[in-house]
Amino acid sequence: MDTNTTDQLLTTTRAVRRRLDLERPVPRELIEECLRIAIQAPTGGNSQGWRWIVVTDAEVRLKLADLYRSQAGILEQMLKHATDNGDQPTARVYQSAIDFAEVLHEVPAFLIPCIQGKVNNASNPEVAGMYGSIMPAVWNFMLAARSRELGTVWTSIHLAKEKEAAELLGIPDDFVQVALIPVAYTKGTDFKPAKRTPMEEVTFWNHWGTS
Ligand SMILES: Cc1cc2nc3c(=O)[nH]c(=O)nc-3n(C[C@H](O)[C@H](O)[C@H](O)COP(=O)(O)O)c2cc1C
Repeated sequence: MDTNTTDQLLTTTRAVRRRLDLERPVPRELIEECLRIAIQAPTGGNSQGWRWIVVTDAEVRLKLADLYRSQAGILEQMLKHATDNGDQPTARVYQSAIDFAEVLHEVPAFLIPCIQGKVNNASNPEVAGMYGSIMPAVWNFMLAARSRELGTVWTSIHLAKEKEAAELLGIPDDFVQVALIPVAYTKGTDFKPAKRTPMEEVTFWNHWGTS
């Protein structure tokens, strides 16, 4: 395996908002290719309880984007919080998210990953098992997309209006939506690794607090 290539893919798959090409359609076959890769991800007990809804219909995208925008106040609050704390990098993320919400409906395709199950009164192992059986597949999708010059961004705020989105999309009651992933070609492909808290500061060996 060429680790230069795989490491580059793994370290440069960014949350892309400003550099999505809203004009260029994304071929259905490309999304299907990424989904075939997505479903190679592991699931608890090999349950594979996932379902994937790809939304390309402009009217449905607009309705979903309106649900998303109805929650944009959360982003405004987070922006204010970051700005008040002088946290410029986080403020930039929220400003980018706020601006992105305005054009969300123009993104050519949305992916809504769903998983069978419910979290009401569930124990931590149940919750971990459920979300752990869909998150790796979604990330697989985002990596496969990136390697095909498609950009994605994990979004979650429409989930506050999950019921309305489920009605719109006909999602049955025993499935939950876990995200809304906009998908578009990127403008340019030169993405860089992000600044993160160094690994050494967040890793312990053998005991909590021991480096
Ligand atoms: C669970 C989760 C929920 C997120 N929800 C949103 C969202 O609702 N809207 C948005 O614009 N970005 C959302 N993001 C994207 C994050 O802001 C982004 O991943 C983070 O800032 C790191 O970006 P980077 O990997 O490009 O450095 C979410 C990411 C995750 C993992």
